[in-house]
Amino acid sequence: IKGDIRDRDILKKIFKYQSIKSVIHFAGLKAVGEAEKFPIKYYENNVLGSLNLFHEMELAEVKTIVFSSSATVYGKHTKNKYDEDTPTRPINVYGRTKHIVENILRDIKKSDDNWSIGLLRYFNPVGAHASGIIGENPKEKPNNLLPYISQVAAGLREKLFIFGNDYPTSDGTGRRDYIHIEDLSSAHIKTLYLIQNTKNKLFTLNLGTGKSHSVFEMINQFEEVSGKEIPFQVVDRRPGDLAEFYADASKAEKLLDWKANRSVKEMCEDTWRWQKNNFFNK
Ligand code: UFG
Repeated sequence: IKGDIRDRDILKKIFKYQSIKSVIHFAGLKAVGEAEKFPIKYYENNVLGSLNLFHEMELAEVKTIVFSSSATVYGKHTKNKYDEDTPTRPINVYGRTKHIVENILRDIKKSDDNWSIGLLRYFNPVGAHASGIIGENPKEKPNNLLPYISQVAAGLREKLFIFGNDYPTSDGTGRRDYIHIEDLSSAHIKTLYLIQNTKNKLFTLNLGTGKSHSVFEMINQFEEVSGKEIPFQVVDRRPGDLAEFYADASKAEKLLDWKANRSVKEMCEDTWRWQKNNFFNK
């Protein structure tokens, strides 16, 4: 059923006519820069939309939910490795929308112990389905690194702009914890299983590999798997970017009996397969 999460009537009908036991809530807007320009749109979709959903879930007595949160809720810290106890102080609108929804779910849980909740804090999801059929095609200029690199390799964009090479990192570029979308996806199924079978619990879990990679490392890996050169130009730092952060994902690994195993090479290979098959300038 295709609908808008802001539309309470559609949600009401879905819960009325379908037999639903639990919800995985992915519906949200996710561009950090766009959120700064259009905060009302972001709060309306991400926060109000979520409230609509929770309200209808409560009315339908569906009280099991996995929510897509983000490592952005942590904001800036002196350490680079973030565990779930790292204080949350998001520095952008997008991060605040995720933080607000996490807190709403915590309050719901406090008021009614029958809720089972998984809050999943994604680090940097990339890649595509290994079939090459499902992938990410940004409608406008990609905001994120890997889709941009991929479009340059496909001849759709001239060059990559690297946002700063003067960070205090191994090669001066930003380092992130990239996680393959299929590892991310399997963690959702496992979280659902965990919260369905551990009643009355709320879990907050980091989803990442626990390793970071620089922009140059990602470029080199993409060049290797695609056989294409990625021209680039170093420009000023992007406001709000951090030098490096990565997940302490040990809690998720232990509780879910899960590990994000797919390598950066596989992330690039799957992205490239999808890009070549679907959007390629011949
Ligand atoms: N980068 C470039 N050029 C680009 C795009 C990115 O040099 O064209 C650099 C960035 O400066 C950064 C790294 O590549 O060092 C990764 O940038 P992304 O935009 O791919 O990812 P971010 O870490 O900035 O943000 C992402 C998602 C957010 C999410 C966050 C969580 O965009 O939605 O990860 O950690 F919240």
